Amino acid sequence: MASNEDNNVDDEKRVFLKAMGGLGAALFLLSLGTLEKFFSFFEKQDLTKEQEESILSEKIRRLKQTAEEEEMQLQRLGQDRIYVTSIDSLSPVKGIYFIDYFMRPGLAFCDDNGLPIVISAKCTHLGCTVGNNVDSKGLILCPCHLSRFNIKTGAPIPGSPAKKPLPHLGWALVDAKGKILLTEDPEGRRQGTTDMDTLDGSSLYILKKYAKGAA
Ligand code: FES
Repeated sequence: MASNEDNNVDDEKRVFLKAMGGLGAALFLLSLGTLEKFFSFFEKQDLTKEQEESILSEKIRRLKQTAEEEEMQLQRLGQDRIYVTSIDSLSPVKGIYFIDYFMRPGLAFCDDNGLPIVISAKCTHLGCTVGNNVDSKGLILCPCHLSRFNIKTGAPIPGSPAKKPLPHLGWALVDAKGKILLTEDPEGRRQGTTDMDTLDGSSLYILKKYAKGAA
């Protein structure tokens, strides 16, 4: 007959073997990446029905938004020119925002003569949209990390986190009959009249032939 001492040793052995068996199984699952899924399954179970519905509807909303933006971009790329604003609305101290061919923000100002200045509003540091208020030095501010850009040259001032200029966009001024009166390419080369009486009442467009897809 087995003594109490022998029974205790057997019990300890059983507990030890069970524990080792459990540990072995856990390591095996972990090696397959299954344990993580196992835990995430139970994490998911902690969500209430409302939380699950809210996560799902947010996912659907984002998918719809992406689809709408891609459709808008396709529509824009189908146009030779995109309306920005009328020349009379341009200001040297407050830019007008618009969206370019590749769904990036742009800004339109006017220079001292009333002619358009059209630049990208996507900061060349980390891509935030820059502000549209021009200070007394002709600078606009990116609110994210405080880069300042000269609106005439697009260049960041020394000490800004951004090191590259905001690119200029090519544009056209078009009269009420659709005739192009003046164009400027992204390098600043102009063609047409700069007579402000002739340009009065014209509309500002960005042109597809100057559109660049690079960020
Ligand atoms: S994103 Fe504009 S300064 Fe950083």
